[in-house]
Amino acid sequence: INMVFLGPPGAGKGTQSEQIIKDFGIVQVSTGDILRKAVKDGSELGKLAKQYMDEGKLVPDDVIIGIVKDRLKEKDCQNGFILDGFPRTIPQAEALDKMLKDDLNISLTHVISLEVDDGKIIERLTGRRTCPQCGRGYHISFDPPEKQEICDECNTQLVQRDDDKEETIKKRLNVYHEQTEQLKDYYRKQSILTTVDGEKTPDEVYKNIKDILS
Ligand code: AP5
Ligand code: ZN
Repeated sequence: INMVFLGPPGAGKGTQSEQIIKDFGIVQVSTGDILRKAVKDGSELGKLAKQYMDEGKLVPDDVIIGIVKDRLKEKDCQNGFILDGFPRTIPQAEALDKMLKDDLNISLTHVISLEVDDGKIIERLTGRRTCPQCGRGYHISFDPPEKQEICDECNTQLVQRDDDKEETIKKRLNVYHEQTEQLKDYYRKQSILTTVDGEKTPDEVYKNIKDILS
């Protein structure tokens, strides 16, 4: 499985990826996670990326394309991968096609787009919490931890992402509609796009995805 996960911010890409990688033994490559780690580490990349991320804007294509190119060459990607949050623009999609073909000699097997209306997104993202230690995601109402604001897995205090403020979420949604949504047409033309209703419960959504991948 070499798959791309499309969908607006908060559609559930990260949530579903946790399950897919367990069941199918493939790796998740999340450009958002890579950038957030760089910000946390205070690297040059992190300093650059933070300015864009805090504004809800996209980090420049050349920066992101370089990161993904290096990551996909690593050994653990050879058994299959989920690209979560990449590509997000037509130039990124074209660069991906080129690197898969020329550098890796493989092709995408699935592109799954999780469909969720804008109205639901704000509710999901303002309630999202993440464990800074193990990376597990939660929602204060839809998927709460057993102890308030504490990770079930590792007892760490959960955190909220800097870009999950209502004002920034609205900007991210605009960016999605203006620059990323058109990728559905791009992959529809290649006949590898499947859309999945992302408004059902996480388990129901996962069942549909599993059917597509099996
Ligand atoms: P990124 O980290 O990729 O964020 P995103 O695409 O906005 O997606 P999210 O991680 O917010 O949402 P998700 O779909 O994973 O939802 P989740 O599963 O957590 O990007 C962040 C920033 O980095 C960008 O703004 C940009 O600046 C930069 N960047 C990254 N990639 C880039 C690129 N390629 N080019 C340029 N810049 C880039 O779910 C959300 C919440 O809902 C959770 O609380 C969850 O518990 C809950 N939930 C999930 N599923 C359900 C369900 N079925 N029902 C009810 N609740 C649910
Ligand atoms: Zn944890």
